[in-house]
Amino acid sequence: MLHARFFSLEVCQYCVESSVFPTAPFPCYTKQRRTENDWALTPELDPYFLDLIRYGKTKQNLKRDEWLRVFDVPKRCFWHFYAVSVCWNGFLLTLYLDSTFRHQPLPSWLTGMLDMLSGAGGADSQAPQLSTLLVQLLLWLHSLRRLLECLCVSVFSDGAMHVLQYVFGLGYYIVLGLTVIGSDHGGIGAGSLLSQLSWFHVAGFGFFVAASLLQHQSLVLLARLRTGKSGSVETLAHRLPTGGWFELVSCPHYFSELLIYISLALVYGGRSLTWWLVVLYVLFNQALAAQLCHELYISKYESYPRHRKAFIPFVF
Ligand SMILES: NC(=O)c1ccc[n+]([C@@H]2O[C@H](COP(=O)([O-])OP(=O)(O)OC[C@H]3O[C@@H](n4cnc5c(N)ncnc54)[C@H](OP(=O)(O)O)[C@@H]3O)[C@@H](O)[C@H]2O)c1
Repeated sequence: MLHARFFSLEVCQYCVESSVFPTAPFPCYTKQRRTENDWALTPELDPYFLDLIRYGKTKQNLKRDEWLRVFDVPKRCFWHFYAVSVCWNGFLLTLYLDSTFRHQPLPSWLTGMLDMLSGAGGADSQAPQLSTLLVQLLLWLHSLRRLLECLCVSVFSDGAMHVLQYVFGLGYYIVLGLTVIGSDHGGIGAGSLLSQLSWFHVAGFGFFVAASLLQHQSLVLLARLRTGKSGSVETLAHRLPTGGWFELVSCPHYFSELLIYISLALVYGGRSLTWWLVVLYVLFNQALAAQLCHELYISKYESYPRHRKAFIPFVF
């Protein structure tokens, strides 16, 4: 409706002209707000479930029983996930390099785990795969960058996550590393690593770099909302993000996370079904987080840009 366009004005022109103001101040505003809430994802969900899926700023105003706070882990502990990932995936990368270049067999405990995960035998019988090596390396670089961003760039408030989210986050990068090395089962490359090099390795790598730069820029912009020109922290409040891809979506850092995982699917030549399942998980997980954040911004800032989507520019 046309009058919805006046949403950000103090007094809607439509209401003034249709003389419902001032007896019913801002009726179109109320109507518009109700419309926003109509597609809100969670208002009717169980508070215990909400406690499990929300974290950080989208959890702060959640009405929940006081005892549930015993399960809270500070969100500033996010760096633990990446520290675990850097160590574990660095270790797996070293083992894979060793097996590739020094022809050392993968340790039996690892092949046993991989066989168990994949339900097939012969985890060490494949020729070394360039795709596997490259994805391992990029995953490790991604974890290292995120670790450094958590420790040196991001400014965390006293937000919290559920202890189950914390445990899941720790386990996630361990299983992810095994998934990558286990993807050798479906590998098609034969011969030397260099002879396996294909256009999709180069394209996937380029895509990975671009998506990583976008994520880094977005996280820097978020950090700048809390720091002054000198870099010192001035506030821990949540403010309205602007600049960069924040002009298009509420959460470009979540969107770029999805792009990073898609870029790794490309490094596999698009042929790893397992990795596409990982991409699907990241899509749903990050879309949910983006939607919750988007709803929060809309409810908090009356002047929130109406063209801004939650997650995917121009789409969603
Ligand atoms: N692959 C996965 O499954 C997965 C899962 C989760 C996250 N991630 C990735 O990890 C990265 C961080 O995720 P996240 O959920 O922690 O992001 P986030 O909630 O947006 O937080 C990122 C940083 O920005 C701060 N911040 C957020 N909104 C702000 C605002 N409006 N004003 C000022 N500061 C603000 C946060 O502080 P607070 O302490 O106040 O929150 C935190 O320091 C993302 O790139 C995401 O894609 C990946």
